[in-house]
Amino acid sequence: MVNRRHFLTISSLVGFLPSLSFGHSRSTIANASSSLKDAETVAGVPPIGPVVISTWKQPKANAAAQAVLDQGGRALDAVEAGVRIPEADPDDMSVGYGGRPDRDGHVTLDACIMDEKGNAGSVTFLEHIMHAISVARAVMEKTPHVMLSGEGAFTFALSQGFKKENLLTKKAEKEWREWLKTAKYKPIANIERHDTIGMLAIDGQGNISGACTTSGLAYKMRGRVGDSPIIGAGLFVDNEIGGACATGLGELVMRTCGSFLVVELMRQGRTPQQACEEAALRIIKKQEFKDIQVGFLAVNKQGEHGAFSIQPGFSYTLSQNKQTQVTDARSYLK
Ligand code: GLY
Repeated sequence: MVNRRHFLTISSLVGFLPSLSFGHSRSTIANASSSLKDAETVAGVPPIGPVVISTWKQPKANAAAQAVLDQGGRALDAVEAGVRIPEADPDDMSVGYGGRPDRDGHVTLDACIMDEKGNAGSVTFLEHIMHAISVARAVMEKTPHVMLSGEGAFTFALSQGFKKENLLTKKAEKEWREWLKTAKYKPIANIERHDTIGMLAIDGQGNISGACTTSGLAYKMRGRVGDSPIIGAGLFVDNEIGGACATGLGELVMRTCGSFLVVELMRQGRTPQQACEEAALRIIKKQEFKDIQVGFLAVNKQGEHGAFSIQPGFSYTLSQNKQTQVTDARSYLK
């Protein structure tokens, strides 16, 4: 969200780093990162009342979540209802049914959910069940555990009444077979730039919950699990402070406990925007970032939000129809 204050903040940083070209100096990035600590708030001004925000272009998912909140429902119910929309959408090829398979042709899903009390549930490497997010919620509410994986998660899902389904659509299978012809069976990090859905909501009671669900990296090695089901990586909620979620190359988010970091930075006084920027800059401080994408989205207890990504292209959806392109590190530093 570019407003005058945001423009001034970026202008002052560009002025602060006049000779930079993107992607070279680690120390320069460190400078930018520490400058952010003093930056003015650049988060969007939120509407008063319930808030729904999600990664990428997700107006239908947000509408489903908003409908729950409009009826006085819990943020937890809202985020589950919201992310079930892309999970069931065969045209969304990064989430649920219709998701791109691993390199052996199997669709495997990762998801997690977190409520305002700090309860969490997660499934990883789940096959044949469309609504991974609802299985994650069942793990949270009906087991003493936080995470179930693979065969165990699938068996648990069946025991809870979930239906076994083929999640590989004709379209996804065709694309995968095309990929096999040239790819030499070699997974390529981030070729599709991951439109994982992460959703954060604040309900009428001011309580925050979040959900994150994905089919993960396209044509990944069998058994690969990304950040999306990892509490603190793909998603973290602390009802006193706020919530954050991540999209993009999960390996990078896991190595930095990305969403936990964003929430902890907000705890230390950063706005959601500053926290997302600092978490993303911490990733690129450690490695070459030409071909990698990570995006963070955050909301604080006051309903202010922020988002930031390493590469251009990341967007988020606030409420039902306002899609906003996110500021990225490239435009920040060049
Ligand atoms: N962020 C989704 C994944 O890496 O699987």
